[in-house]
Amino acid sequence: MKNILITGGAGFIGSHVVRLFVNKYPDYHIYNLDALTYAGNLENLIDIESKENYTFLHGDITDEVYINTIFTKYQFDSVVHLAAESHVDRSITDPLAFAKTNILGTMILLNAFKVLWKDNWEGKRFYHVSTDEVYGSLGTTGLFEETTSYDPNSPYSASKASSDHFVRAYGETYGLPYVISNCSNNYGQQQFPEKLIPLFINNILNDKALPVYGDGNYTRDWLYVVDHAIAIDLVYHKGLNTETYNIGGFNEWKNIDLVKLLCQQMDQKLGRAAGTSEKLITYVKDRPGHDLRYAIDASKINKELGWSPTVTFEEGLSETIDWYLSNEDWLNNVTSGNYQNYYKAQYK
Ligand code: NAD
Ligand code: DAU
Repeated sequence: MKNILITGGAGFIGSHVVRLFVNKYPDYHIYNLDALTYAGNLENLIDIESKENYTFLHGDITDEVYINTIFTKYQFDSVVHLAAESHVDRSITDPLAFAKTNILGTMILLNAFKVLWKDNWEGKRFYHVSTDEVYGSLGTTGLFEETTSYDPNSPYSASKASSDHFVRAYGETYGLPYVISNCSNNYGQQQFPEKLIPLFINNILNDKALPVYGDGNYTRDWLYVVDHAIAIDLVYHKGLNTETYNIGGFNEWKNIDLVKLLCQQMDQKLGRAAGTSEKLITYVKDRPGHDLRYAIDASKINKELGWSPTVTFEEGLSETIDWYLSNEDWLNNVTSGNYQNYYKAQYK
């Protein structure tokens, strides 16, 4: 039995990764470590929570004593590290929280892993899940490659870039076996409604304005979360030590075009007249330091590991909307309480 620690497994992407690993690998024991911040939700994992090869650990990656204790107790053979503060807007209002979790938390995990296995790295692996935002912003052409220089612009992307550097530094300095992947924007079920797509779905359902930042001409490369989880499984098992793999959807959308497609699909599904949701679009003050365009060249993972997205954007978006429409309780639960305060402060 292999003991695998997945951090951030109660969050959006992490819950899809935990589900995939628990169901696909009965001979792995999956330990899901999560602090259950506003973004962590055990409701995301109800379908697998009683499986024998699954254990939830409620803890914080910045709590060094706790982290050292669980590494000693469970002897994790590998770590798939997703826990992070993940929302760019929050990083602009509270950058220190991002430095703490994303940089210090990653270092504490690296250190615990080093202390445990430094005399025998055989069969061990630290997999760090990162973002394309570390590469900064593209102009209207070009793609991010694995060799693109780091040039982060937001406190979020700077903290993720820093954590990537520490992972590589532990590899170089101590021989810690690592692999890193940098992925584009994910969407899909169970994404917290602070991110563009679920926020706008929730607002359309509640007849609230759709706050498009700036002129709406910013571009992102969107990937269905299940396809990201499949890529993580492949990189974990087949990726080479010290390598980086870019993961992306080959699927660029200007925000305003994406929002219009979302509005059309929502109107159809809700039986509303065409054009109803588009009337909610409101252009608001831009995000400071807003990166113009992200786009991933995912040819390395495609050629070397045989990965490509399985779902088109139209299909994935439709499935995502269907999930939110049939899980309004989930949406209501996560948007009560503190969410209202966040929303007022962010969109005042
Ligand atoms: P998320 O915000 O939905 O989930 C983060 C999870 O980490 C939550 O369950 C939260 O409770 C947990 N967490 C936060 N701080 C913690 C701490 N100090 N200790 C333990 N647990 C803590 O994030 P997500 O969108 O699922 O992103 C997961 C990872 O993937 C992050 O590392 C992010 O940088 C990366 N990523 C995200 C995207 C995206 O589009 N969402 C794209 C590329 C990479
Ligand atoms: O590229 C990968 C990154 O994608 C991940 O590393 C991050 O964790 C994830 O949050 C995401 O970052 P973005 O900033 O690109 O995602 P977000 O959903 O916040 O915004 C997508 C685009 O939509 C961006 O150009 C900002 C814009 N936007 C967003 C919100 C929340 C709006 O116009 N209005 C909004 O209210």
